[in-house]
Amino acid sequence: MRADQAEGLRILREREAAAARMVAFVSGKGGVGKTHVAVNTALAAAGLGARVLLVDGDLGLANVDVLLGLPAAAGSRELLLGHEPLEAVIHPGPRGVHILPAASARADLAALPREEIGRLAALLAGAAAGFDLVLLDLGSGIGPVVLDLAAACGRAVVVATPEPTSLADAYAVVKLLGGCGRAGGPELELLVNAAGSELEALETHDHLDRLARRFLGRGLSYRGHVPRDARVPRAVAMQQAVVEAAPTAPAARAIVRLAADLLHAVKEAGRFPEEKPGENTVRTGAASGFASSPAAVRTPRRGRPWTRSWRAC
Ligand SMILES: Nc1ncnc2c1ncn2[C@@H]1O[C@H](COP(=O)(O)OP(=O)(O)OP(=O)(O)O)[C@@H](O)[C@H]1O
Ligand SMILES: [Mg+2]
Repeated sequence: MRADQAEGLRILREREAAAARMVAFVSGKGGVGKTHVAVNTALAAAGLGARVLLVDGDLGLANVDVLLGLPAAAGSRELLLGHEPLEAVIHPGPRGVHILPAASARADLAALPREEIGRLAALLAGAAAGFDLVLLDLGSGIGPVVLDLAAACGRAVVVATPEPTSLADAYAVVKLLGGCGRAGGPELELLVNAAGSELEALETHDHLDRLARRFLGRGLSYRGHVPRDARVPRAVAMQQAVVEAAPTAPAARAIVRLAADLLHAVKEAGRFPEEKPGENTVRTGAASGFASSPAAVRTPRRGRPWTRSWRAC
């Protein structure tokens, strides 16, 4: 291999490795628990020893700082304006989590031009080398900020509750991020939040996965579930993460398991192909206890030749 080819390959691999560490939380529908899951996953992963960057990707309606009771601080706005370098806008949070805040009540940021979104995504990919996990808490809706930032990530966790309205919007996100023959794009996974039971969460996944496969030609893996838990709104009211305020609460325990699974999956995805033993092993959910469940066995994998249906595309 020539030196310039080797250099090109190295750059490509670095980009892939950076994207593999970047995980977006999306939903379409608002208020389904993206910020709660992203913030708590960040703290749980940090508690497991990971270096974590938590990005408030709800650029014009910041919530991460509110949920954690942190003072408003310079963030992506100042970064994009060129007023501050990246190091100056990453702030320390609980458990050593690094936080890139957003701004509040900024319609201009919510409707950022696509070049600016691309610039932010590139800056985050550059920063990803210094972290094990970069979590993006994105806003609701299907605007360019949400879709372009999610597309820059190696993995998009679609957060949905079992309600039909939430599922309809999750379906829309799947369609726009990876359905209808779109090549590449992030790995798509479903996380069922505020589930009444594990069975309800598995059935919710099954339903959406089947619809997406049938009409969009693309399924999505099962990332797991977080139970409906009264201690979540109580923690939010205290402006604390539930993993800190009530570590033994079912929602907190579930998120710690999810964080461990996610760290494992991200690490595996970032390894070079020649380093991966047993390429055909389905790993999603392996550490969560769902590995032997029907949903995990059905987990679709990148590269699987899905039968395509274009009816809804
Ligand atoms: N597992 C849960 N059990 C009970 N309540 C929950 C759970 N998850 C979230 N909630 C409640 O739902 C509220 C909304 O959650 P959150 O702000 O994380 O949603 P979001 O998807 O980020 O909303 P937005 O789209 O506006 O950014 C929380 O403040 C919390 O009270
Ligand atoms: Mg939110």
